[in-house]
Amino acid sequence: MSARRIDGTAIAAELTTKISAEVARLRKEHGLDPGLAVVLVGSNPASEVYVRNKTAKTAAVGMRSSLHTLPATVSESDLLALVAQLNADPMVHGILVQLPLPPQIEPQKVIEAVAPAKDVDGFHPLTAGLLATGLPGLRPCTPSGCVRLAKSVHPSLAGMEAVIIGRSNIVGKPLFHLLLAENATVTVAHSRTRDLPAVARRADLLFVAIGRPEFGKRDFIKPGATVIDVGINRVPADGGKSRLVGDVAFAEAAEVAGAITPVPGGVGPMTIACLMLNTLSAACTAAGLPDPAL
Ligand code: GUN
Repeated sequence: MSARRIDGTAIAAELTTKISAEVARLRKEHGLDPGLAVVLVGSNPASEVYVRNKTAKTAAVGMRSSLHTLPATVSESDLLALVAQLNADPMVHGILVQLPLPPQIEPQKVIEAVAPAKDVDGFHPLTAGLLATGLPGLRPCTPSGCVRLAKSVHPSLAGMEAVIIGRSNIVGKPLFHLLLAENATVTVAHSRTRDLPAVARRADLLFVAIGRPEFGKRDFIKPGATVIDVGINRVPADGGKSRLVGDVAFAEAAEVAGAITPVPGGVGPMTIACLMLNTLSAACTAAGLPDPAL
């Protein structure tokens, strides 16, 4: 391996340390008491782990969190009623409804039911529009984390060639806008892009968020490029076990890249740290305080 390993766990820990200090200061000086409500429907094992991590991290930075668990059989209207109750609760500054949701519930309806001021996931179409037009607002957590990781290697992204593989509403599209706001030159490629490896090889900054295990191979990487792997895929391993891999074939990509994020320990911890920051930011806005610039 020649690439530098970008330590998302350490970079996230640095950010959460700053968030903790800011939470303590705002509590002391302004009586701010930020609160996050997390809604978990059903018992998807991966979702249970994510939700546990999010509520534990919220407590670790000194903020309140409440966990609302609903059975997998809950009706869409009952879930929407809970979201309405959380929207109206002044003690709740951020609302996160963990996805995926069971088949009887239309996720878009739930996303649109969350009050934009409390939309700490950044999934609401209004939040997406604020980002696309460069207006202040909450920014989606995973793309924000990706930009912070890229900036840990290149403090200015201005003028850099960035390629995103993947065009989802939760990663690829918002990441495009965040990178554009950093003055990068951005290409969004996807499963239908012709000669994907050649397009990927243009990148000084390559972001892979296509949801396929170890999809990005050696021939996707320009020598010296910075690679941010957004994937988390559980694949079978020896002895009937399983292991987590990203959307990039790490070992071979690391032989060509200049810097690369591992999976786990790359984007994942940054997503949670950015969720903490969004919750604090939403609480500040609700209290008429300036956004913490961390
Ligand atoms: N499921 C997997 N990742 C996420 C996320 O970032 N937010 C929500 N709400 N659900 C998810």
